[in-house]
Amino acid sequence: MAEAPPSKATDAVLVQSEEMPADSVVVTGYDFSNGVDYHALLQTYLTSGFQATSFGKAVEEINRMLEKKAEPLPVDPEEDQPLNLHPMGRPKTNCTIFLGYTSNLISSGVRETLRFLTKHNMVDCIVATAGGIEEDFIKCLAPTYLGEFQLKGKDLRVKGINRIGNLLVPNDNYCKFEDWIMPILDQMLLEQKTQGTVWTPSKMVHRLGKEIDNPDSVYYWCYKNNIPVFSPALTDGSIGDMIYFHSYKNPGLVLDIVEDIRRINNIAVHSQHTGMIILGGGLVKHHINNANLMRNGAEYAVYVNTGQEFDGSDAGARPDEAVSWGKIKMTANPVKVYADATLVFPLLVAETFAKNIKAPTPS
Ligand SMILES: NC(=O)c1ccc[n+]([C@@H]2O[C@H](COP(=O)([O-])OP(=O)(O)OC[C@H]3O[C@@H](n4cnc5c(N)ncnc54)[C@H](O)[C@@H]3O)[C@@H](O)[C@H]2O)c1
Repeated sequence: MAEAPPSKATDAVLVQSEEMPADSVVVTGYDFSNGVDYHALLQTYLTSGFQATSFGKAVEEINRMLEKKAEPLPVDPEEDQPLNLHPMGRPKTNCTIFLGYTSNLISSGVRETLRFLTKHNMVDCIVATAGGIEEDFIKCLAPTYLGEFQLKGKDLRVKGINRIGNLLVPNDNYCKFEDWIMPILDQMLLEQKTQGTVWTPSKMVHRLGKEIDNPDSVYYWCYKNNIPVFSPALTDGSIGDMIYFHSYKNPGLVLDIVEDIRRINNIAVHSQHTGMIILGGGLVKHHINNANLMRNGAEYAVYVNTGQEFDGSDAGARPDEAVSWGKIKMTANPVKVYADATLVFPLLVAETFAKNIKAPTPS
């Protein structure tokens, strides 16, 4: 006669479940037996779990921003600006989209995805760090190459090659950048002295976007489409090196960050709704969040970064921390995707912004 297992063990292992709620989602992934359909594959991310589900939620959140943007502006008698105008002269829509990214993303091939967004005038306000400004212009002058993370710093230094992760930038690129930017800095100084121009980082990026006159550039399209680009730490990169050298060769150029904080905060204040898409952490993440505090929070938010919150860093803070500060609205459904933006952002754009663009027909 078989012996019954101990009831202590069966009671522990075979605990009875309550019925799952009727609206519970079943975990399902993509079946490649149906062929390779990238859109269908990415749609299954929502029900796949882990960061795939966060990706799916980020797609939904960005599409909510775009739907809100497409709605007509309501009439607001208390608005102190002309209803169809943004404070900076950029046409106002029903949802202002703020986009932020760290410098390395312009160094990477994500630059081409970012350029797509500015070329097609799909975002309203950009925040980037200094490298994220200059590397775009430098790429118009000379290329960045693929390398390896493991390449030795000492070996690269003697060859005059700089490493950004597994990307390589010959130092000559920065010499070309110096040749390009110095006469522009001279001209900016002249305009400051003769016309009283008050230069700010955003006005400087606008001017550089005009001067580069090259459709490969993200900021050429920002100039063309009047998309303001804020970079309050613009001196923390090669641009800063050039401004430093210029301060000896032809002293006197002033960049005013006070006017820029007014500009970005007022964009948030005067917006009907706002959405934030922030790739990476640090300055770019906080500057957009802080501008949105001025309107008691953004309606929509998507973060893509690798930061963790256990150290109390702003870079790693989940969106809920920003809710506590009034930087994201209490009613929002913000999403954080824990991932390298080079993997995730082109796919996010493919499932959102790029849906509205028809591929050119081959001639
Ligand atoms: N190409 C460059 O990276 C470069 C060039 C010149 C100057 N700089 C300067 O270095 C300083 C620091 O750069 P920063 O503030 O742009 O950011 P950073 O490179 O210091 O990154 C900040 C945080 O963003 C997150 N992050 C970065 N890359 C990510 C990715 N690919 N995917 C997901 N999350 C990511 C990480 O949590 C990281 O800790 C800036 O002042 C910048 O101007 C950078």
